[in-house]
Amino acid sequence: MTQTFQIGPLNHVGVAVPDLSAAIETYRELYGATDITTPFDMPEQGVKVCFVNLPNSQIELIEPLNSDSPIHNFIQKNPRGGQHHVCFEVADIHEAVREMSARGATVLGEPRIGAHGTPIIFVHPKNSNGVLIELMETPKGNH
Ligand code: CO
Repeated sequence: MTQTFQIGPLNHVGVAVPDLSAAIETYRELYGATDITTPFDMPEQGVKVCFVNLPNSQIELIEPLNSDSPIHNFIQKNPRGGQHHVCFEVADIHEAVREMSARGATVLGEPRIGAHGTPIIFVHPKNSNGVLIELMETPKGNH
């Protein structure tokens, strides 16, 4: 079997938080981060998101918008928040879906537009040592 498909750079680490403003303060005050994007709502995904920009990557801070949010359950189980997913870039999201499925992974749902404005999918944690993996099409013009 020729395996041409492979993951690219680590794009970000997703961290679920109960309070986005408090989490931003933590990254500012405790870690001295200065480049943090303005939070924005993604109502179709039930989350409010911002990014802590670092020289080599980003931390995505995610707060549930309401009790229907997929992040809501995570916060119920982890009231102080916790590491939620790891995101790798891929060249082509449809190739990613096809290849991941062919390799036996459980791809969760259909490709949808993620917080960076490019298509994303998630791969079930059972396929990767308990870690939820996000695959995100590399924004055009990057890399
Ligand atoms: Co993410």
